[in-house]
Amino acid sequence: MYSIGLRHSAVILAGIGLAVSVLVYTMYQWSVVPIVVFGVLVAIGVWDMSQHSHAVLRNYPILGHIRYFFEMIRPEIRQYLIESDNEEVPFSRESRAIVYQRAKNVEDKRPFGTKEKVYDSGYQWLTHSIRPKKITNTDFRVTIGGPDCTRPYDASVYNISAMSFGALSANAISALNNGARIGGFAHDTGEGGISRYHRAGGGDLIYEIGTGYFGCRDAQGNFDPDLFAQVAADDQIKMIEIKLSQGAKPGQGGVLPAAKITPEISEARGVPMGQDCVSPSFSAFRASISAFNISSFHPAFKASLLSAIT
Ligand SMILES: Cc1cc2nc3c(=O)[nH]c(=O)nc-3n(C[C@H](O)[C@H](O)[C@H](O)COP(=O)(O)O)c2cc1C
Repeated sequence: MYSIGLRHSAVILAGIGLAVSVLVYTMYQWSVVPIVVFGVLVAIGVWDMSQHSHAVLRNYPILGHIRYFFEMIRPEIRQYLIESDNEEVPFSRESRAIVYQRAKNVEDKRPFGTKEKVYDSGYQWLTHSIRPKKITNTDFRVTIGGPDCTRPYDASVYNISAMSFGALSANAISALNNGARIGGFAHDTGEGGISRYHRAGGGDLIYEIGTGYFGCRDAQGNFDPDLFAQVAADDQIKMIEIKLSQGAKPGQGGVLPAAKITPEISEARGVPMGQDCVSPSFSAFRASISAFNISSFHPAFKASLLSAIT
């Protein structure tokens, strides 16, 4: 009982205040302001006690709002009063101050060096070399394809990762492929087949074949070796990537619902319109992996390939 009284002290006091101000008003017609103020407080207290969403407010009517108020102004209190100049992430107050100073064209230099504790353990910095090397070729590339490969590819170390047409829009795919051409790197098609937007920019392509064999499948959804050979001979396609399983989509694999399949997606994937397009999980490759003639693969790669699909 004692604790209930204490927890409800604010609402009880507001109730007393309301009663007194109503009494004073009836006797002397003084101001209505106290009646409004105490009335609002009582209403808040009653609402707090009757609601079920916030335990703090139910247990501490009216008073509980102080907690929410401080929570609201917490970032400002920390930022203005507590946080040090170097603490905040991703940009500390010090870094932001430099940006403001330079934007406003005011002095951004401070005498007596840095305020950072550069001798503290864990302090990191980049320092220039006293014997710098001149790098003549900054176009870093890796040749992919061994001695038996008829079309080795000098891949940039910087490429565009697999994102299929369907997951990305036509404009996005076109923009990425144009970027690949301009930057001289490769654009991975993702597992949704090769759309006309992949070809439009003329950038190098890595053709990803996933478990749905999009772009190289027959009407039943099986791998079609002849179609694959025909597609793969395209000069714009520099490499083939085989995605063995749907790591991020276990169980049923990936599903593109029928409603989202446009004529262009249907064309790129080689799937009919009006039906859900399923990209199964890993087991799909087990039956048809032989079509890739894996007997010619490096033994280590063959072993890991087989362990991944079985
Ligand atoms: C919209 C979108 C579509 C993707 N589609 C594919 C895909 O078709 N095949 C694939 O192997 N990965 C796909 N991914 C995964 C990416 O290739 C990449 O591995 C992943 O986004 C992680 O890289 P990140 O951290 O740079 O985003 C997709 C990712 C995104 C965001």
